[in-house]
Amino acid sequence: MEDKAILVTGAAGFIGFHLSQMLLGQGGRVIGLDNHNDYYDPALKAAREAQLISDENYVSIKGGVEDPGLLMGLFETYRPDYVIHLAGQAGVRYSIENPRSYTQANLVGSFELLEAARAFPPAHLLMASTSSVYGANTQMPYRETDKVDLPMSYYAATKKATEAMSHSYAHLFDIPITMFRFFTVYGPWGRPDMAPHLFTQAILDGKPIKVFNNGDMMRDFTYVTDLVRAIVMLCHAVPEATAKESRDASQSPVAPWRVVNIGNGAPVQLMAFINAIEQACGKTAEKTMLPMQPGDVPATWADTSLLQDLTGYAPKTDVNEGVESYVAWHRAYYDGYNDLSSNWRGI
Ligand SMILES: NC(=O)c1ccc[n+]([C@@H]2O[C@H](COP(=O)([O-])OP(=O)(O)OC[C@H]3O[C@@H](n4cnc5c(N)ncnc54)[C@H](O)[C@@H]3O)[C@@H](O)[C@H]2O)c1
Repeated sequence: MEDKAILVTGAAGFIGFHLSQMLLGQGGRVIGLDNHNDYYDPALKAAREAQLISDENYVSIKGGVEDPGLLMGLFETYRPDYVIHLAGQAGVRYSIENPRSYTQANLVGSFELLEAARAFPPAHLLMASTSSVYGANTQMPYRETDKVDLPMSYYAATKKATEAMSHSYAHLFDIPITMFRFFTVYGPWGRPDMAPHLFTQAILDGKPIKVFNNGDMMRDFTYVTDLVRAIVMLCHAVPEATAKESRDASQSPVAPWRVVNIGNGAPVQLMAFINAIEQACGKTAEKTMLPMQPGDVPATWADTSLLQDLTGYAPKTDVNEGVESYVAWHRAYYDGYNDLSSNWRGI
């Protein structure tokens, strides 16, 4: 990434922060866009970005991807070689409460991004989708070529729509686009709305944790450092206008566009995940068993063979190791120790 200009949207977010650190570490120049919204504590976003800003190759831009003209202006000014679009409204459950924010950030925001890419095409545009698009599919592991027409949540519907929108732009304007389907990402600096944070905090406080579907769930938990390494490698796997090889069946036959799973390829039972957190905290959780949440799915499991074919790499961090590292960070951060830069740089 030496001397490449990379626009990262959602750079103050969980994945965007780790990705930006890795890109800067590889000599890239990162233009980080984020609106620092209050979906969760903006102080965490500010703390992440404070570390990025200390690098002279990082430019911080505050604003919304849906703001008319903002992305167009950034593309014109910085002419990014790569654009990695992670800004968006995440979360399955919140999409029941506030679907409008998903429409704005995920649909209108992605449209503005595609329009800017049409005017100033990067070498490769890469955008975040989610394993949630597999919806009610029961065939495991999930493959990129599986039919994904029946989303179970509005969140998944907006991501599936983004996949379709991006395909049309790739086809019409010959823009190389990769859509990632991420599988439950966790690790240091993680999101406070996600299970690892909620479980860890409750266990440390001696409060009960909510276990949905009576614990009968499986997730393909993916460690964030593995995920961002895969993203950086995929930057160099630029899709071509026509799929030449059968292994790349997820690539469009009519456009430089493909979708790629990024998961651990090894699903873990929710109770085993909780057990790993209990071990790392040195405390047993009090568990409140609850039914399945609306919009949620009982299992996710990524087939990562396409990722391996394209990059020679597959995520592999064992969940016990990953959880230990997460809990160590959680304790340090929430105990009020602010200067974590020396602990967590150089991932
Ligand atoms: N974390 C996961 O397990 C996971 C799984 C599947 C997909 N994803 C997707 O990956 C992407 C990054 O996820 P994350 O976990 O880092 O979430 P995150 O919420 O920590 O990061 C997203 C960042 O985007 C910013 N943002 C939101 N709306 C914006 C807007 N309209 N304009 C500008 N900035 C905006 C937020 O302030 C935040 O900092 C999202 O698109 C998410 O849907 C994440």
